[in-house]
Amino acid sequence: MTSQRFSDLEIAGVYRAINERRDMRHFKPDPVPPELLQKLLNAAHRAPSVGLMQPWRFIRITKASIRRKIYDLVQLERLETSREIGLKDSSPRETEFMRLKVEGILECGELLIATLCDQREKYIFGRRTLPEMDLASVSCAIQNLWLASRAEGLGLGWVSLFDPLELSTLLKIPTDAKPVAILCLGYVEQFYKKPMLVEEGWAKEKSLSELVMENSWHAI
Ligand SMILES: Cc1cc2nc3c(=O)[nH]c(=O)nc-3n(C[C@H](O)[C@H](O)[C@H](O)COP(=O)(O)O)c2cc1C
Repeated sequence: MTSQRFSDLEIAGVYRAINERRDMRHFKPDPVPPELLQKLLNAAHRAPSVGLMQPWRFIRITKASIRRKIYDLVQLERLETSREIGLKDSSPRETEFMRLKVEGILECGELLIATLCDQREKYIFGRRTLPEMDLASVSCAIQNLWLASRAEGLGLGWVSLFDPLELSTLLKIPTDAKPVAILCLGYVEQFYKKPMLVEEGWAKEKSLSELVMENSWHAI
């Protein structure tokens, strides 16, 4: 009988990538070799998607001037976010937020924009009651990219601090498509041991046992 199971070493590699993947905001400036980038994008493209919709589109940013404009958009949204945190929480939290490093856009070797495709209303299968399954599918692609990058020794940072309409105008994205992630990809000095938001004392991780329920919902 042939086993469908991977070898112990292969299994260890999968779990290692999962456990050691980090959202990265510190990068070395070295470029990502084109063949490696292709391999990583191919890993993203192997993701599952609702009704085989494959709603992911990736835009490579190769012009420094556009990269700078994207950085500026993120800085604007960072300020808006801190202002709103200040309104909701006590003001030290606002200052703490502004101290966090929330992106590595200018430093990373490769900058990618992940967007939802246009004409998504054509896809009904699996989305009639849950249209957001398109975003879930793009997220699966990004997670594939994240894990494959970690295995290759590269870091990835998902930045969602931006106004999608402004970014769409900048990148000529059609009005029925939507950018959902600025992805900073590249070589890193070292990977954070824990989520950076934990290391910086901004957030605490919940334990798995708090989040698994049996038979019905119960409040955490
Ligand atoms: C959908 C999504 C959006 C995110 N947006 C940002 C962001 O704008 N800036 C940032 O610094 N981190 C962002 N992150 C990273 C999270 O902060 C990070 O995943 C979380 O703190 C856990 O850390 P880890 O990924 O290293 O395990 C985002 C992550 C996800 C999944």
